[in-house]
Amino acid sequence: MDASIVGWGHTRFGRLEGETLESLIVGAAREALADAGIAAAQVDGIWLGNFNAGLVPDGFAASLALQADDDLRFKPATRCENACASGSAAIFAARNAIRAGEARVALVIGAEKMTHLATAEVAEALGHAGYAAQEAGLTFPAIFGRFAAAYFQKWGDRSAALAQIAAKNHRNALSNPLAQMRKDVGFAFCNTVSDKNPIVAAPLRLTDCSLVSDGAAALVLVADDMLGDFRRAVGFRAAAQVNDFLPMSRRDLTAFEGPAQAFRRAYAQAGITVHDLDFAEVHDCFTIAELMLYEAMGLAPPGQGARALDEGWVLKGGALPVNLSGGLKAKGHPVGATGVSMHVIAARQLVGEAGDMQRQDAALGCVFNMGGSGVANYCSILEARKAG
Ligand code: COA
Repeated sequence: MDASIVGWGHTRFGRLEGETLESLIVGAAREALADAGIAAAQVDGIWLGNFNAGLVPDGFAASLALQADDDLRFKPATRCENACASGSAAIFAARNAIRAGEARVALVIGAEKMTHLATAEVAEALGHAGYAAQEAGLTFPAIFGRFAAAYFQKWGDRSAALAQIAAKNHRNALSNPLAQMRKDVGFAFCNTVSDKNPIVAAPLRLTDCSLVSDGAAALVLVADDMLGDFRRAVGFRAAAQVNDFLPMSRRDLTAFEGPAQAFRRAYAQAGITVHDLDFAEVHDCFTIAELMLYEAMGLAPPGQGARALDEGWVLKGGALPVNLSGGLKAKGHPVGATGVSMHVIAARQLVGEAGDMQRQDAALGCVFNMGGSGVANYCSILEARKAG
């Protein structure tokens, strides 16, 4: 039997000075349980998405979720780590437990605390998601700078397309009260190298990078034969996980082959094409990633991802709006929280609770969450099982 999402919580993303990893986990977990109307005693298991790798000293964080409610004591709790896709890893593990009949109610949380460290320290911790034998010391901006350089070399300079993506996602974040940066910085600013928008890792500029963020999101999954007890529910039409080789040297830097495989498998499971989707929340950790994902998801042939912008398909009001939440670019990217946040935002869209972000009549939504540079790829196709 499959599982559906019946409640959720989501902290604001940003520089949250009074918060700790523990308080973020507790806040999101309590909100999700209350939203679902589930008592802690009913939870069969807890899955926590958290990357860490030196961001905080709490390297053993799963049981921090028990601080949310004493009735969570003695429940199984497990931390899932798959780099920036740790949140989706937690959701997929929880769903699998329900599908296997091992649990009926699962609490999933994703959380990360990052902003208390200097940018260089954050970069060092995140760099642990690379292949140490060959890529030690490379930061993630540098890794995606290599992807962008290789892509530009093969297909031509696409700096303007990257700036369009940054400007789009910053503008979209104006409609998301939980987003970290709610400022319409504009295309011209994003497309111009300046003191305020320097090159971070050529050819990527500061505005081509996602934010360093604190935040958490949580959701409650239940077995589908329980849906009668809940006012609304969002289910999985498909869910595919595809891992690719870790070394960059074993992958083509001009095409996202692992992500493309994940999309293809998810579409096949769901019996759909990309044109059936009403919206997508995709992993724009860097603007080049979103551009390459347009191709991986089948919106445009290789090298022509920029058409999705030029033709307006991925803009708010377009045929397939991408990252209505502002994406990692402007909503923020507390890495372990991101996959859970994306599923929460998509669930809100599908039951008509996305506020100013709402895509009218959204029936089918796609979440694509990625760990590393196209290494751990999670694609979910979601639809409402029960509207509120
Ligand atoms: N996008 C847009 N604006 C940003 C920004 C970003 N990614 N990062 C910071 N800013 C803004 C700040 O709000 C600040 O604006 P202000 O002067 O108006 O107050 C200004 O830029 C400087 O901020 P600061 O924090 O000093 O920037 P920084 O140089 O220390 O960090 C980056 C900038 C791009 C290096 C940092 O955001 C980063 O490392 N991002 C990537 C994170 C990452 O790798 N995540 C994992 C992905 S796989």
